[in-house]
Amino acid sequence: MNGVLMAAGCSKRVSVGGRDRRAVAAAAGDVRAGGPVTEALELTRADMDVAHDAAAKVGVSVWEGSMPDIDSTDYHDFVIKDGTLIGDFEQMYRRIDDPWGTVRHAQSLKNDLVVALVRHVASQSPVTRVLHAGCALGALTARVRDALGAGVEITGCDISVTAVEKAAARHRDIRFLVQDLAQVEALPLAPGSLDLIVMAETMWYVLPFLGRLLRGFRMLLRPGGHLVMQQFFPQPGEQTYGREIVAAPDDLLRFITEAGFAVGAEAHLDPRRNHSMLVWATAP
Ligand SMILES: C[S@@+](CC[C@H](N)C(=O)[O-])C[C@H]1O[C@@H](n2cnc3c(N)ncnc32)[C@H](O)[C@@H]1O
Repeated sequence: MNGVLMAAGCSKRVSVGGRDRRAVAAAAGDVRAGGPVTEALELTRADMDVAHDAAAKVGVSVWEGSMPDIDSTDYHDFVIKDGTLIGDFEQMYRRIDDPWGTVRHAQSLKNDLVVALVRHVASQSPVTRVLHAGCALGALTARVRDALGAGVEITGCDISVTAVEKAAARHRDIRFLVQDLAQVEALPLAPGSLDLIVMAETMWYVLPFLGRLLRGFRMLLRPGGHLVMQQFFPQPGEQTYGREIVAAPDDLLRFITEAGFAVGAEAHLDPRRNHSMLVWATAP
């Protein structure tokens, strides 16, 4: 499955297959006054005709049909299953309150380390404009905001409408946006306008376009702006998805470097069991 446009109510989805998901998504988004395509977009027959025309222009196909509901309360079933990226984050957030425990475990050691690193980079140069990419229910967004204190302008974005609505309801003073990171350039943020981007536990879901995403992050950061990433890695031999793209933490570091960042520091937590890598990189 490549991209998915989904009609409201989860009953009907449109799967966009082929090489340019973004072009079709953007064209279909034009149907609704130019707004970004979100998974809650209600698509009528006329909308679909526009999406088909847009797809034809870029030489891809649009598949229409009903996708099965996933009857589960295990987040794995919606995310990565048997080595395949399912990526049905919207349905997952509708069915499961706190899929990864990001709210329950907001005070986890790995989050403490992310926050400590954020404090450290903010001690090096002023950090007031921040993006949390893949913000889930906003728990880490709020911790980063608290760490940076008054005056910080922080935006959290996530692909799931439900996650963003719940995050906004919990943290009314933070701006949350629905945004597929596959279209990072569609974020309402000017190039060079950010001091810091944080992305935690999201890499596996954006793997197919990781290089493009990191280059997009670099464009959004001011010169000397900071990227803080935290990511779990399976133990050697246990990875079922995406080995051809990222097979080890060094591969992520290579992607970050190839996107034009200078890696300032990497830290590893619990590498023999629950391996989590924390990376700090700066934009040129
Ligand atoms: C494990 S959660 C991140 C947790 C978060 N960093 C925290 O600690 O609060 C991963 C998030 O990435 C989001 N996500 C997955 N694919 C995405 C995409 N293409 N664009 C934006 N968000 C995406 C999911 O909806 C999910 O909320």
